Amino acid sequence: NYDTLTRGAGLWNSWNTFGNDISEELIMKTADVMVNEGFLDAGYEYLVIDDCWSMHERDKDGKLVADPVKFPHGMKYVADYVHSKGLKFGMYSCAGPVTCANFPGSFDHEFVDAKTFAEWGVDFLKYDYCFRPFGVAPDHFYKRMGLALATCGRDILFSACSWGADDTKNWIKEANVHMWRSTGDIFDNFDSIKFIAQSQIKVAEYNGLGCFNDMDMLVVGMNGKGNVGRGGCNYDEYFTHFAFWCLYGSPLMIGCDIRDMDPEIKKMLFNKDLIRINQDKKYNTPFVINTNRKKNEKLSNENPFYYETGFTDIQIIAKYLDDGKIAIGCFNFADYDSNYVSTYFPTFQLGLPETSGKTLKMRDVITGEEFVIKNGYFSTNLKAHCTKMYIAEVIDK
Ligand code: GLA
Repeated sequence: NYDTLTRGAGLWNSWNTFGNDISEELIMKTADVMVNEGFLDAGYEYLVIDDCWSMHERDKDGKLVADPVKFPHGMKYVADYVHSKGLKFGMYSCAGPVTCANFPGSFDHEFVDAKTFAEWGVDFLKYDYCFRPFGVAPDHFYKRMGLALATCGRDILFSACSWGADDTKNWIKEANVHMWRSTGDIFDNFDSIKFIAQSQIKVAEYNGLGCFNDMDMLVVGMNGKGNVGRGGCNYDEYFTHFAFWCLYGSPLMIGCDIRDMDPEIKKMLFNKDLIRINQDKKYNTPFVINTNRKKNEKLSNENPFYYETGFTDIQIIAKYLDDGKIAIGCFNFADYDSNYVSTYFPTFQLGLPETSGKTLKMRDVITGEEFVIKNGYFSTNLKAHCTKMYIAEVIDK
């Protein structure tokens, strides 16, 4: 079912919270929660086991073997359970001979591993980039596995994870890939979120149907706990993170422990408007509205958020949606303490000149508040690390 494969997956992945601490029991319980508590209905369809699931040695036929302590009934059993819940099942391997956490990788075993994954009932494969041998061109690692998956007899979504390294963006779409990691690893703190978000503006144009930019898994709701928990974030910071990932169309991959979740965070992850913005089928590139930007001025690679005004880190970013509406995010990545920062945009920046006779009706996706922009300018106040997201509709003045 290629419709699903190319949609940009919503999923849960074990890495951010659990790392090496995974088991059949955890995965089955998580599958139960995904279905019973509405994650699947909200669009989070895949359950993905990341690194650390296998034995350190292959079997005598050169096949990967699930760790019998962590997965006593084997992987097919887990996959069958996940499928019985109506979910799809994802696994992990690596382009090198060993994975990032030192388990066997698929180098020179691509075709046998793809076959094993197909036999187990895997629907999604994340494919990492650690320990790759020198002398092999970067694209060949993904071409090998891309072809192995495409010919293994099962539809398997291919999720490349080469962290944007070696100019991934220039060759990854050659390799039968459905999504590609356009960043290094995320950690659960605001600096990491900000660093990744800022780095993504200049690669946004590569995102789109058939192969999505993957900005790495969400840390929303981790609260500093678990494998990549490095300090944690507050609700507003998690919202900035989630809203940005939605606007940029990244696959939404939950990484917190969903067995024990703050209801407010869950509400955020289930927000229909945000998910609708994320899943928009027109795949337009989001654009930064800079009221001080000169005509044709390019953002700097060093600091895509720097403008002549000295305003750094405060951004208004818009994306045209497939129904004529416009998603608009006002982001404050700056640290200025306690003070509200005022920001604004003129509606002509969105393609509404004075001559159009039109203006915008704005709806805040969190509060539901609606208002009409008067006099051609929208302005709002943002506290440090906070975001406001709107869906705007073009109306007569
Ligand atoms: C790399 C990836 C992470 C995770 C780990 C597992 O760092 O980028 O997302 O899969 O490996 O070891």
